Amino acid sequence: MIDPTALSEKPVLTGERIRLVQLTRRHADAFHATFLDPETRRLTGTHRDWTLPELQEWCAAAAGRPDRLDLVIEDRETGGYLGELALSQIDKDNAHGTFRISLADDATGRGIGPEAIRLLLAYAFDRVGLHRVELEVFPFNPRARRAYEKCGFEVEGRLREALYWDGEWHDVLIMAALSGSGRERA
Ligand SMILES: CC(C)(COP(=O)(O)OP(=O)(O)OC[C@H]1O[C@@H](n2cnc3c(N)ncnc32)[C@H](O)[C@@H]1OP(=O)(O)O)[C@@H](O)C(=O)NCCC(=O)NCCS
Repeated sequence: MIDPTALSEKPVLTGERIRLVQLTRRHADAFHATFLDPETRRLTGTHRDWTLPELQEWCAAAAGRPDRLDLVIEDRETGGYLGELALSQIDKDNAHGTFRISLADDATGRGIGPEAIRLLLAYAFDRVGLHRVELEVFPFNPRARRAYEKCGFEVEGRLREALYWDGEWHDVLIMAALSGSGRERA
């Protein structure tokens, strides 16, 4: 059902304004900068303080991981770093995967996210052979929820008080997209 070579061969996915390329060590500085941004940390629920050397090691090893995709979103014209996304936790028997995305702060608000998500979903469904891609989003992040809905994700449920952030408990929404459903939604 799944084609595992589609996860190990590390594609370049080209859209209108962006290109998704393999995460490598050369992206570590930009990747690290997003981890330092307090608003990005809040929206992604990032508790861990990654040091630059830790992230350099993580980025350098990413291309050798055969069971997941870690891709960088680049500006198609300049090659500039716009963000990163990942498809991981692949369940081969049930054709599931888990998705996450984080744009650099100055890349948000102009439709880059949905363009990147659609490219990744097309690859996940059509090339990897996944049937379902799942993600988590916080109720206080309506921009992300809207971006996901535009790309065919639907809210399926709520994990009550699964996030502890800044002294308060927050619910976490589960969203998923299924192959062949709603990817073209405007
Ligand atoms: C979430 C993210 C991927 C969305 O990508 P983006 O390129 O910024 O999204 P867009 O600019 O296309 O906006 C998406 C939609 O949300 C809408 N939107 C923006 N702010 C909104 C708000 N406060 N409430 C509701 N909708 C909002 C936009 O109008 C757009 O809808 P439209 O095309 O129908 O007008 C990106 O903002 C990001 O990575 N943010 C930082 C980290 C993060 O939140 N990651 C996701 C964690 S789950």
